[in-house]
Amino acid sequence: MHDDHKCNCEQPLVPGIVEVIDIKEETPDIKSFYVKNIDGQGVPFNVLPGQCAMISTPVGEGMFSCTWQEEQEWLQFAIKRVGLMTDDLHRIEVGQQLGIRGPYGNHFPIEESKGKDMLFIAGGIGLAPLRSFIKYCFKHREDYGKIQIIYGSRSYADLCFKDELFDLWPKEKDTEVFVTIDRPEEGWDGEVNFVPTYLEKLNPDPANKMAVTCGPPVMIKFVIQALEKMGYSDEQIITTLEMRMKCGIGKCGRCNIGSQYICLDGPVYNMVQLRQLPPEW
Ligand code: FES
Repeated sequence: MHDDHKCNCEQPLVPGIVEVIDIKEETPDIKSFYVKNIDGQGVPFNVLPGQCAMISTPVGEGMFSCTWQEEQEWLQFAIKRVGLMTDDLHRIEVGQQLGIRGPYGNHFPIEESKGKDMLFIAGGIGLAPLRSFIKYCFKHREDYGKIQIIYGSRSYADLCFKDELFDLWPKEKDTEVFVTIDRPEEGWDGEVNFVPTYLEKLNPDPANKMAVTCGPPVMIKFVIQALEKMGYSDEQIITTLEMRMKCGIGKCGRCNIGSQYICLDGPVYNMVQLRQLPPEW
């Protein structure tokens, strides 16, 4: 259907089989899956921050953000239970096998962001793709300036990656982590706010900064509005539209916005690029 579009990945159709070596329950409906080659030797491919992979089970397949890590000893996916295929995935146990293809998509601007202060703004499972970029910045700490992370979810239980959020990341050099939940709850004495409102309250200075955001579409919309109000330019605002991707290879026609195929041209965009698209994102 869309054969005129060339895939921008190196190994678009080579499926592999991986074994699940560990599973971590992040929230009541999000699990992290750690996988490696079935011979126990490494991973089928490497990813850059922001890239995705297609995972298949007997019930179907889905495109998921893949966590970047320097060592490349395993691949990690944080996957939210949202339907038939992800229900099936959540029933997978350690030792079972999954089909995998990738990597797909472009990646976050790791080079262009060098020398800049970094502002990461995420909601819910949207922290999963940003976490790759955050981990990359920490691994190459000397290349980036101050790092600020603003993250929110519905409740404390729904916050992903709590050990990193509350323990590891705040200990990193020149780093601030701000966490909020949507509604007050017993035992939480931190911020109660929606992410865009918390962002405005914190009012981080746009000077020499790159702002990267991911989360539910409505959150992204209001975060972008807030950033604009605070004086961020279009070049300084980056987001990923990976949640629109289905087949990942320009075939299913489910991800297009105007003439762009998110799976072939994205999923990472800055606001300059997004403004050239019809406002459907
Ligand atoms: S055409 Fe299928 S995800 Fe882009």
